[in-house]
Amino acid sequence: MTDTTIARMHGRRVWDSRGRPTVEVEVHLASGFTGRAIAPAGASRGSNEAVDLRDGGTAFGGMGVSRAVAHVNGEISRLLIGRNALQQAAIDEELIALDGTPGKSRLGGNAMIATSMAVLHAAAGAHGMPLYAYLAQGKGVRLPLPEIQIFGGGAHAGRRVDIQDFMVMALGARSFDDAVAMTAEVYRAAGELMKEAGKLQGVADEGGFWPAFASNEEALTMLMRAIERAGYHPDEDIGISLDVAASELGRNGRYRLGLESRELDSDDLCELLLGWLARYPIVSIEDPLAEDDAEGMKKFTAAAGSRAQIIGDDFLVTNAVRVKNAAAAGACNAVLIKPNQAGTVTETKAALDAGKRAGWGTIVSARSGETEDVTIVHLAVGWDAGQLKVGSFARSERMAKWNEVLRIEEALGANAVFAGRAVLPRLA
Ligand code: PGA
Ligand code: ZN
Repeated sequence: MTDTTIARMHGRRVWDSRGRPTVEVEVHLASGFTGRAIAPAGASRGSNEAVDLRDGGTAFGGMGVSRAVAHVNGEISRLLIGRNALQQAAIDEELIALDGTPGKSRLGGNAMIATSMAVLHAAAGAHGMPLYAYLAQGKGVRLPLPEIQIFGGGAHAGRRVDIQDFMVMALGARSFDDAVAMTAEVYRAAGELMKEAGKLQGVADEGGFWPAFASNEEALTMLMRAIERAGYHPDEDIGISLDVAASELGRNGRYRLGLESRELDSDDLCELLLGWLARYPIVSIEDPLAEDDAEGMKKFTAAAGSRAQIIGDDFLVTNAVRVKNAAAAGACNAVLIKPNQAGTVTETKAALDAGKRAGWGTIVSARSGETEDVTIVHLAVGWDAGQLKVGSFARSERMAKWNEVLRIEEALGANAVFAGRAVLPRLA
């Protein structure tokens, strides 16, 4: 029997896709197996997420992680050395107790999620299994339907447009391989159209084209043209998905669309989005209202929930209790699952399970600040989430994830089942 005792841990500073410091953790088992993971970082964060510990001061704009890394190499190592890496839930519980704050602000959510995921990798390694297979425990899993950004906006593009993500979902795809190939054609067509219109100005934080548009809706019309130019039928072949990230637009039921110089109340924003839902093949909308607008979320879900997937991100922050309460209240019908919002693997899984129990869609998601770490791909497949959101179809911190799903699909061979369009409420 392999010795799965944690013998040694190492934390180090590495760098994310925005060139900012982040935390990498290695967990070494007595048997020699090693697990490694890197914490990602958000830019449009929910106020109830686990807090990243940053150094402050002037270096790296205050984003340094030397204190978080020191916690990994100090208190966290002392806690975990000698523990059995297979006891993920107990380890996560002890990490939470050691931190001792509601928001994981003392040890740092960044130190904690990198540690928790590194432990998980070490355990899978000791079993000689790919992480997704270790997590699946012999149960059937599906390859996720991807949600892929074509235009970036909001906090990921200097607020050039207000809406944060204009994405596509390849509803007509029969496999994951097919879905990314279809998306590649739409992404290429969008680039050509932007170039022809004299609007090609590079890409935003997650690799989507920089949104040089005169209105938010112009991005939607451009997306429709890109889908058609790629030879696809909007709706049947390719659906549109939006992340409004409305917490970035305002508070207390007031929303400001800076690009259009207008301010909306909660009902106005619902009306605007319902109008887009009527005119465009939108199959999914994330954070349509702000994290503090539960009433708006309920109203919007009542009005649109039978036609579209309504995802809570900032509103639910990968928290099982919030998911359960939102489900009881009829706010949202899907949950975004970001491990670093929760801060441990166990809490992440609990939020996903709460979503599944509610009969909701579950979407495992990257952050806008990413790295080559592909843990989320294995979580999405191994936990059978059904959907995966990783940003756009460019830049290697994004492509590393899409390519990892392709490898898993190939490894599963004849057993590969693609979740496809059936994961969306309207299309089930
Ligand atoms: P973030 O945003 O990673 O910058 O917080 C992503 C999202 O809102 O889904
Ligand atoms: Zn979001």
